[in-house]
Amino acid sequence: MKIRKIGTLIAAVAGVCAFSAPALAKDFRMGLITPPPHIWTQQANGFAEDLKEASGGKHTVSVFPAGQLGSEAQMLQQMQTGALDMAFLTIAEASNRVENLGALYAPYLVRNVAEAAEILKTPAATNLLKELPAKAGVVGIGYGMAGMRQILTAKPVETADDLSGMKLRITPLDPIRDFYIDLGAAPTPLPLPAVYDALANGQVDGIDMDLELIWALKFWEKADTILVSNHMMFPMVGVVSARVWKDMSEEDRKMITDLMSKRLDMVMAEYKAKESGWEEKVRGTGKTIKDVGPEFFEEEIVEWEETWSKRTPEALSSLREAAKNIKK
Ligand code: BEZ
Repeated sequence: MKIRKIGTLIAAVAGVCAFSAPALAKDFRMGLITPPPHIWTQQANGFAEDLKEASGGKHTVSVFPAGQLGSEAQMLQQMQTGALDMAFLTIAEASNRVENLGALYAPYLVRNVAEAAEILKTPAATNLLKELPAKAGVVGIGYGMAGMRQILTAKPVETADDLSGMKLRITPLDPIRDFYIDLGAAPTPLPLPAVYDALANGQVDGIDMDLELIWALKFWEKADTILVSNHMMFPMVGVVSARVWKDMSEEDRKMITDLMSKRLDMVMAEYKAKESGWEEKVRGTGKTIKDVGPEFFEEEIVEWEETWSKRTPEALSSLREAAKNIKK
Protein backbone atom coordinates (compact mmCIF):
# COMPACT_ATOMS: atom_id res chain seq x y z
CA MET A 1 0.00 0.00 0.00
CA LYS A 2 1.33 3.40 -0.92
CA ILE A 3 2.21 5.73 1.99
CA ARG A 4 -0.44 8.26 0.94
CA LYS A 5 -3.12 5.53 1.00
CA ILE A 6 -2.05 4.36 4.50
CA GLY A 7 -2.27 7.96 5.70
CA THR A 8 -5.77 8.25 4.28
CA LEU A 9 -6.79 5.00 5.99
CA ILE A 10 -5.45 6.11 9.39
CA ALA A 11 -7.23 9.44 9.04
CA ALA A 12 -10.48 7.68 8.18
CA VAL A 13 -10.22 5.32 11.19
CA ALA A 14 -9.33 8.20 13.49
CA GLY A 15 -12.33 10.14 12.20
CA VAL A 16 -14.71 7.28 12.91
CA CYS A 17 -13.23 6.78 16.42
CA ALA A 18 -13.69 10.46 17.19
CA PHE A 19 -17.42 10.15 16.60
CA SER A 20 -18.11 6.67 17.95
CA ALA A 21 -15.41 5.03 20.01
CA PRO A 22 -15.81 1.27 20.46
CA ALA A 23 -17.89 0.34 23.50
CA LEU A 24 -15.11 -0.93 25.81
CA ALA A 25 -15.81 -2.56 29.17
CA LYS A 26 -14.84 -0.33 32.05
CA ASP A 27 -14.88 -0.06 35.83
CA PHE A 28 -15.71 3.59 36.42
CA ARG A 29 -14.74 5.40 39.61
CA MET A 30 -17.22 7.84 41.10
CA GLY A 31 -16.49 10.24 43.97
CA LEU A 32 -18.65 12.17 46.44
CA ILE A 33 -18.06 14.11 49.65
CA THR A 34 -21.31 12.95 51.26
CA PRO A 35 -21.27 10.11 53.84
CA PRO A 36 -22.55 6.60 52.92
CA PRO A 37 -26.14 6.99 54.27
CA HIS A 38 -26.67 10.37 52.50
CA ILE A 39 -29.22 10.55 49.67
CA TRP A 40 -26.56 11.48 47.08
CA THR A 41 -24.44 8.45 48.00
CA GLN A 42 -27.45 6.12 48.02
CA GLN A 43 -28.47 7.28 44.56
CA ALA A 44 -24.86 7.02 43.32
CA ASN A 45 -24.90 3.39 44.47
CA GLY A 46 -28.24 2.96 42.69
CA PHE A 47 -26.72 4.39 39.51
CA ALA A 48 -23.84 1.86 39.81
CA GLU A 49 -26.34 -1.01 40.04
CA ASP A 50 -28.41 0.32 37.13
CA LEU A 51 -25.36 0.70 34.88
CA LYS A 52 -24.11 -2.79 35.65
CA GLU A 53 -27.50 -4.24 34.82
CA ALA A 54 -28.17 -2.14 31.70
CA SER A 55 -24.71 -2.90 30.27
CA GLY A 56 -25.08 -6.64 30.95
CA GLY A 57 -22.20 -6.46 33.44
CA LYS A 58 -19.82 -4.82 30.97
CA HIS A 59 -19.59 -1.61 33.01
CA THR A 60 -19.31 -1.32 36.76
CA VAL A 61 -18.98 1.74 38.99
CA SER A 62 -16.98 1.84 42.23
CA VAL A 63 -18.44 4.56 44.43
CA PHE A 64 -16.11 6.43 46.84
CA PRO A 65 -18.16 8.45 49.37
CA ALA A 66 -17.18 10.75 52.25
CA GLY A 67 -14.34 12.47 50.42
CA GLN A 68 -12.25 9.27 50.23
CA LEU A 69 -10.73 10.56 46.98
CA GLY A 70 -10.11 14.02 48.43
CA SER A 71 -11.94 17.34 48.45
CA GLU A 72 -14.22 18.38 45.60
CA ALA A 73 -11.40 20.57 44.26
CA GLN A 74 -9.13 17.52 44.15
CA MET A 75 -11.85 15.38 42.56
CA LEU A 76 -12.42 17.99 39.88
CA GLN A 77 -8.69 18.00 39.14
CA GLN A 78 -8.70 14.21 38.91
CA MET A 79 -11.60 14.37 36.45
CA GLN A 80 -9.70 16.88 34.33
CA THR A 81 -6.87 14.39 33.90
CA GLY A 82 -9.25 11.43 33.53
CA ALA A 83 -8.00 9.81 36.77
CA LEU A 84 -11.55 10.02 38.14
CA ASP A 85 -14.50 9.23 35.87
CA MET A 86 -17.59 10.64 37.57
CA ALA A 87 -18.88 12.53 40.58
CA PHE A 88 -21.90 14.08 42.25
CA LEU A 89 -20.60 17.51 43.25
CA THR A 90 -21.90 20.57 45.02
CA ILE A 91 -21.69 23.52 42.66
CA ALA A 92 -18.98 25.00 44.88
CA GLU A 93 -15.89 23.95 42.97
CA ALA A 94 -17.51 24.07 39.54
CA SER A 95 -18.72 27.64 40.15
CA ASN A 96 -15.14 28.73 40.79
CA ARG A 97 -14.59 27.89 37.12
CA VAL A 98 -18.03 28.64 35.67
CA GLU A 99 -18.95 31.91 37.35
CA ASN A 100 -22.50 31.88 35.95
CA LEU A 101 -23.32 28.88 38.15
CA GLY A 102 -23.06 31.30 41.09
CA ALA A 103 -26.37 32.86 40.00
CA LEU A 104 -28.13 29.68 41.14
CA TYR A 105 -27.48 30.86 44.72
CA ALA A 106 -29.46 34.08 44.42
CA PRO A 107 -31.15 34.60 47.79
CA TYR A 108 -34.85 33.74 47.64
CA LEU A 109 -34.70 32.88 43.95
CA VAL A 110 -37.13 30.09 44.93
CA ARG A 111 -39.14 29.52 48.10
CA ASN A 112 -38.87 25.78 48.67
CA VAL A 113 -37.50 22.46 47.38
CA ALA A 114 -40.40 21.92 44.97
CA GLU A 115 -39.64 25.24 43.27
CA ALA A 116 -35.90 24.47 43.37
CA ALA A 117 -36.48 21.15 41.60
CA GLU A 118 -38.58 22.92 38.99
CA ILE A 119 -36.22 25.80 38.24
CA LEU A 120 -33.25 23.44 37.92
CA LYS A 121 -35.05 21.81 34.98
CA THR A 122 -35.55 25.08 33.07
CA PRO A 123 -33.22 26.13 30.22
CA ALA A 124 -32.13 29.10 32.40
CA ALA A 125 -30.43 26.55 34.68
CA THR A 126 -29.59 23.68 32.31
CA ASN A 127 -27.90 26.00 29.77
CA LEU A 128 -25.30 26.83 32.43
CA LEU A 129 -24.12 23.22 32.35
CA LYS A 130 -22.99 23.69 28.75
CA GLU A 131 -20.07 25.81 29.99
CA LEU A 132 -18.66 22.96 32.09
CA PRO A 133 -16.67 20.96 29.48
CA ALA A 134 -14.61 23.92 28.25
CA LYS A 135 -14.15 25.62 31.62
CA ALA A 136 -14.08 22.77 34.13
CA GLY A 137 -13.18 19.70 32.05
CA VAL A 138 -16.37 17.81 32.94
CA VAL A 139 -19.64 17.06 31.19
CA GLY A 140 -22.68 18.09 33.26
CA ILE A 141 -25.35 15.40 33.02
CA GLY A 142 -27.91 17.24 35.13
CA TYR A 143 -28.75 18.71 38.50
CA GLY A 144 -29.68 17.17 41.79
CA MET A 145 -29.92 19.15 45.03
CA ALA A 146 -29.61 19.14 48.79
CA GLY A 147 -32.68 21.08 49.84
CA MET A 148 -32.73 24.67 51.04
CA ARG A 149 -30.19 26.47 53.23
CA GLN A 150 -30.84 27.36 56.86
CA ILE A 151 -28.70 28.99 59.56
CA LEU A 152 -27.88 27.28 62.83
CA THR A 153 -26.14 29.26 65.57
CA ALA A 154 -24.62 28.32 68.90
CA LYS A 155 -25.71 31.68 70.37
CA PRO A 156 -29.13 33.35 70.42
CA VAL A 157 -30.16 35.35 67.33
CA GLU A 158 -33.09 37.78 67.24
CA THR A 159 -32.26 40.02 64.29
CA ALA A 160 -29.92 39.88 61.30
CA ASP A 161 -27.61 42.25 63.23
CA ASP A 162 -26.98 39.47 65.76
CA LEU A 163 -25.25 37.50 63.00
CA SER A 164 -22.79 40.33 62.50
CA GLY A 165 -19.31 39.35 63.69
CA MET A 166 -20.19 35.65 64.04
CA LYS A 167 -17.89 33.06 62.49
CA LEU A 168 -20.31 31.14 60.31
CA ARG A 169 -19.37 28.01 58.41
CA ILE A 170 -20.17 28.09 54.72
CA THR A 171 -19.67 25.71 51.81
CA PRO A 172 -16.63 27.21 50.06
CA LEU A 173 -18.09 29.30 47.24
CA ASP A 174 -18.31 32.99 46.40
CA PRO A 175 -22.07 33.61 46.28
CA ILE A 176 -22.62 32.16 49.76
CA ARG A 177 -19.53 33.96 51.07
CA ASP A 178 -20.85 37.27 49.70
CA PHE A 179 -24.22 36.78 51.39
CA TYR A 180 -22.53 36.42 54.80
CA ILE A 181 -20.08 39.24 54.19
CA ASP A 182 -23.10 41.45 53.43
CA LEU A 183 -24.47 40.35 56.82
CA GLY A 184 -21.27 41.51 58.51
CA ALA A 185 -20.47 37.93 59.55
CA ALA A 186 -17.11 36.20 59.14
CA PRO A 187 -17.89 33.43 56.62
CA THR A 188 -15.65 30.45 57.30
CA PRO A 189 -15.36 28.02 54.36
CA LEU A 190 -15.31 24.41 55.53
CA PRO A 191 -16.10 21.26 53.57
CA LEU A 192 -18.93 19.10 54.89
CA PRO A 193 -16.74 16.41 56.54
CA ALA A 194 -15.09 19.07 58.75
CA VAL A 195 -18.28 20.77 59.96
CA TYR A 196 -19.28 18.77 63.04
CA ASP A 197 -15.93 19.10 64.80
CA ALA A 198 -15.64 22.80 63.97
CA LEU A 199 -19.06 23.43 65.50
CA ALA A 200 -18.43 21.18 68.49
CA ASN A 201 -15.06 22.72 69.39
CA GLY A 202 -16.22 26.31 68.93
CA GLN A 203 -14.07 27.01 65.86
CA VAL A 204 -17.27 28.47 64.36
CA ASP A 205 -20.30 30.16 65.98
CA GLY A 206 -22.78 28.68 63.56
CA ILE A 207 -23.27 27.00 60.22
CA ASP A 208 -25.06 27.42 56.89
CA MET A 209 -26.69 24.02 56.33
CA ASP A 210 -29.74 22.13 55.07
CA LEU A 211 -32.48 20.60 57.23
CA GLU A 212 -31.63 17.00 56.38
CA LEU A 213 -28.08 17.29 57.68
CA ILE A 214 -29.00 19.52 60.63
CA TRP A 215 -31.06 16.53 61.68
CA ALA A 216 -29.10 13.50 60.40
CA LEU A 217 -25.59 14.65 61.36
CA LYS A 218 -26.89 15.94 64.71
CA PHE A 219 -25.71 19.52 64.15
CA TRP A 220 -28.88 20.56 66.03
CA GLU A 221 -27.35 19.26 69.27
CA LYS A 222 -24.85 22.15 69.16
CA ALA A 223 -27.48 24.81 68.38
CA ASP A 224 -29.02 27.52 70.48
CA THR A 225 -31.08 28.88 67.58
CA ILE A 226 -32.07 27.51 64.20
CA LEU A 227 -33.19 30.11 61.68
CA VAL A 228 -35.55 28.36 59.29
CA SER A 229 -34.78 30.78 56.51
CA ASN A 230 -34.81 28.78 53.24
CA HIS A 231 -32.59 31.59 51.99
CA MET A 232 -30.99 29.74 49.05
CA MET A 233 -31.37 26.49 47.17
CA PHE A 234 -28.40 24.12 47.09
CA PRO A 235 -27.97 22.48 43.69
CA MET A 236 -25.77 19.47 43.04
CA VAL A 237 -24.45 18.41 39.64
CA GLY A 238 -23.83 14.94 38.23
CA VAL A 239 -20.67 15.06 36.11
CA VAL A 240 -18.48 12.83 33.94
CA SER A 241 -14.84 13.59 33.11
CA ALA A 242 -14.74 15.22 29.64
CA ARG A 243 -11.62 13.17 28.85
CA VAL A 244 -13.38 9.94 29.69
CA TRP A 245 -16.50 11.09 27.80
CA LYS A 246 -14.46 11.77 24.66
CA ASP A 247 -13.41 8.13 24.47
CA MET A 248 -16.89 6.66 25.09
CA SER A 249 -19.13 5.20 22.42
CA GLU A 250 -22.37 7.05 21.65
CA GLU A 251 -24.22 4.08 23.05
CA ASP A 252 -22.39 4.31 26.39
CA ARG A 253 -22.85 8.08 26.57
CA LYS A 254 -26.59 7.66 26.13
CA MET A 255 -26.80 4.85 28.67
CA ILE A 256 -24.87 6.87 31.27
CA THR A 257 -26.84 10.05 30.58
CA ASP A 258 -30.20 8.26 30.90
CA LEU A 259 -29.32 6.31 34.03
CA MET A 260 -27.56 9.14 35.85
CA SER A 261 -30.39 11.57 34.97
CA LYS A 262 -32.89 9.10 36.41
CA ARG A 263 -30.94 8.96 39.69
CA LEU A 264 -30.55 12.75 39.84
CA ASP A 265 -34.34 13.03 39.44
CA MET A 266 -34.72 10.55 42.29
CA VAL A 267 -32.51 12.77 44.48
CA MET A 268 -34.86 15.69 43.73
CA ALA A 269 -37.93 13.55 44.41
CA GLU A 270 -36.54 12.41 47.78
CA TYR A 271 -35.87 15.96 48.94
CA LYS A 272 -39.37 16.98 47.87
CA ALA A 273 -40.90 14.05 49.73
CA LYS A 274 -38.77 14.28 52.90
CA GLU A 275 -37.99 17.97 53.52
CA SER A 276 -41.14 18.56 55.62
CA GLY A 277 -40.36 15.47 57.76
CA TRP A 278 -36.84 16.75 58.53
CA GLU A 279 -38.27 20.16 59.33
CA GLU A 280 -40.72 18.60 61.78
CA LYS A 281 -37.90 16.68 63.47
CA VAL A 282 -35.73 19.81 63.71
CA ARG A 283 -38.68 21.75 65.14
CA GLY A 284 -39.15 18.98 67.70
CA THR A 285 -35.60 19.22 69.08
CA GLY A 286 -36.56 21.82 71.69
CA LYS A 287 -34.05 24.33 70.31
CA THR A 288 -35.16 27.89 69.57
CA ILE A 289 -36.66 27.92 66.09
CA LYS A 290 -37.05 31.24 64.33
CA ASP A 291 -38.92 31.44 61.05
CA VAL A 292 -37.48 34.18 58.88
CA GLY A 293 -37.96 35.26 55.27
CA PRO A 294 -36.55 37.78 52.80
CA GLU A 295 -37.58 40.71 55.03
CA PHE A 296 -35.07 39.50 57.68
CA PHE A 297 -32.20 39.90 55.15
CA GLU A 298 -33.58 42.84 53.21
CA GLU A 299 -30.40 44.96 52.96
CA GLU A 300 -28.15 41.96 52.41
CA ILE A 301 -30.26 40.77 49.50
CA VAL A 302 -29.99 44.17 47.83
CA GLU A 303 -26.21 44.15 48.28
CA TRP A 304 -25.89 40.57 47.01
CA GLU A 305 -27.98 41.44 43.97
CA GLU A 306 -25.81 44.47 43.23
CA THR A 307 -22.64 42.35 43.20
CA TRP A 308 -24.00 39.39 41.27
CA SER A 309 -26.00 41.34 38.72
CA LYS A 310 -22.57 42.65 37.64
CA ARG A 311 -20.78 39.30 37.83
CA THR A 312 -23.42 37.16 36.11
CA PRO A 313 -25.97 39.57 34.57
CA GLU A 314 -27.51 37.31 31.96
CA ALA A 315 -27.59 34.13 34.04
CA LEU A 316 -29.18 35.96 36.97
CA SER A 317 -31.87 37.69 34.93
CA SER A 318 -32.76 34.46 33.05
CA LEU A 319 -33.10 32.63 36.37
CA ARG A 320 -35.21 35.42 37.90
CA GLU A 321 -37.46 35.30 34.83
CA ALA A 322 -37.76 31.51 35.07
CA ALA A 323 -38.55 31.82 38.77
CA LYS A 324 -41.42 34.22 38.05
CA ASN A 325 -42.99 31.66 35.75
CA ILE A 326 -42.75 28.77 38.20
CA LYS A 327 -44.11 30.80 41.11
CA LYS A 328 -47.36 31.55 39.25
C1 BEZ B 1 -22.58 21.34 52.45
O1 BEZ B 1 -21.44 21.69 52.10
O2 BEZ B 1 -23.20 21.96 53.32
C2 BEZ B 1 -23.21 20.12 51.82
C3 BEZ B 1 -22.47 19.36 50.91
C4 BEZ B 1 -23.06 18.26 50.31
C5 BEZ B 1 -24.37 17.91 50.62
C6 BEZ B 1 -25.10 18.68 51.51
C7 BEZ B 1 -24.51 19.79 52.11
